[in-house]
Amino acid sequence: MHPLISAALAARERAHAPYSHFKVGAAIEDETGRIFTGCNVENASYGLSLCAERVAIFKAVSEGAGKLIRVAVVADTPSPTPPCGACRQILWEFMGDVPLLLANLSGQHETVQIGAMLPRAFDASFL
Ligand code: THU
Repeated sequence: MHPLISAALAARERAHAPYSHFKVGAAIEDETGRIFTGCNVENASYGLSLCAERVAIFKAVSEGAGKLIRVAVVADTPSPTPPCGACRQILWEFMGDVPLLLANLSGQHETVQIGAMLPRAFDASFL
């Protein structure tokens, strides 16, 4: 198994998802090989919940990661779960067009580019 998928799998175990019971794990690698993980963290005030991908990104940024080169997301779904729209926007902002590894618990996995997940993205180039 790809080490980034293993890291996302381990992070998924720490998901705080008592409302949806849908656990997600994410892991992001920087150019030096450092790995930053995240899990979804829900709240009784549902709208305050944060997805695994954004937790991982914000941890990477706040912990001084270098250039972010790869991201993995793991969920327990029949086919690998893609990031939500909000997370695609955040991933694009901080990572750009990097490979996104999607995997489920049965070992199915695929790799797509972030750019392919968010066509005609809005970003700082328009400001
Ligand atoms: N969720 C993620 O963490 N990442 C995704 O890519 C999709 C959705 C979370 C949000 C919420 O805690 C639960 O999964 C159900 O939507």
